Amino acid sequence: MSNPAPMPRSRILGTGHYAPARVLSNSDLEKIVDTSDAWISERTGIRRRHVAADGETTSDMAAAAARRALEAAGLSVADVDLIIVGTISGDTPVPSCAVNVQQKLGAEEIPAFDISAACAGFLYGITIADQFIATGAANCVLVIGVELLSRILNWEDRTTCVLFGDGAGAVVLGPARGDGRGILSTCIFSDGALASSLIVPAGGTAEPVTDEGLERKRNKVHMVGQDIFRVAIKNLTSASTHALKASGLTSAELDWVVAHQANLRIITQVSSRLGFPLEKFVINIAEYGNTSSASIPIALDEAVRDGRIQPGQSVLLCALGAGISWGAALVRM
Ligand code: ACO
Repeated sequence: MSNPAPMPRSRILGTGHYAPARVLSNSDLEKIVDTSDAWISERTGIRRRHVAADGETTSDMAAAAARRALEAAGLSVADVDLIIVGTISGDTPVPSCAVNVQQKLGAEEIPAFDISAACAGFLYGITIADQFIATGAANCVLVIGVELLSRILNWEDRTTCVLFGDGAGAVVLGPARGDGRGILSTCIFSDGALASSLIVPAGGTAEPVTDEGLERKRNKVHMVGQDIFRVAIKNLTSASTHALKASGLTSAELDWVVAHQANLRIITQVSSRLGFPLEKFVINIAEYGNTSSASIPIALDEAVRDGRIQPGQSVLLCALGAGISWGAALVRM
């Protein structure tokens, strides 16, 4: 599905992020599983990851990021008329994480819902928000990407537990003002053929949790990393090319790329296939690991706050995750 937008309908009014204070380094992980700092940093680019404190919840992190985005936008929660949360690690299977965020922010009785698109959840969220704003159905949308993956990882499985981190990122979207700034294009895709390559097998209706399932960690993340790795490079490149074309820009006219932070080698390959220099990718994987749906809004917020991304610059966002689901968006900040 693609939504070319020659003139932006919505724009980013503010960004924010939150990362838990507790940090686990690669050396800390050496004490938990059979791994090494050298393997993790060379194969992934990850050096540290933030992990939620006991008692800290997904919606706590989401609300913290949302407050920062609202503050940056100069808006209050009373201005918000829709909350969209991209997450695969909400507080509870039912109800949505978004309703808990709504409560914690003290928002009115506005619609609030979750998107389950794993690492592409934030991109799916801004795509939906852009449509709500384009039709006039919403005027001020909080889009949040948040994950507390540390609680759904198997800490005995070195092939997954070293990769992920916890955190939240948020943007506030409002109508474009006709000055060319805003979301120029979005495109989102899914392919269920690879659904089992990244999955939490138990805990849904297909496989209810049993004692045996708990023993075999069927309620934790299982991943065939190489399947995802190959397709990530191909699909991130094609979605990025799609979003660029739909916005009428070439890669030479881009200022920045904020790609999902899953593996530095994936980002490097996408850089080379797009013919866009790695120095112009916002990269923070060393600090956070893979925070799934939170990774793009965290990186975006960091680059906005430290002045790398300037108003008026063009930024390509792209992500791929479980589903598999993927997409890209072109934003003039
Ligand atoms: N420490 C040490 N050795 C390890 C570790 C570890 N943590 N993990 C795996 N190994 C070993 C393997 O056992 C294997 O050993 P063997 O050769 O003796 O069998 C060897 O390292 C190589 O393993 P590979 O799986 O081939 O390693 P690869 O280079 O493919 O890297 C990785 C694995 C990092 C998972 C990579 O495939 C990847 O990044 N995949 C994409 C992940 C992704 O993008 N996921 C989607 C987003 S996440 C979401 O949606 C929630």
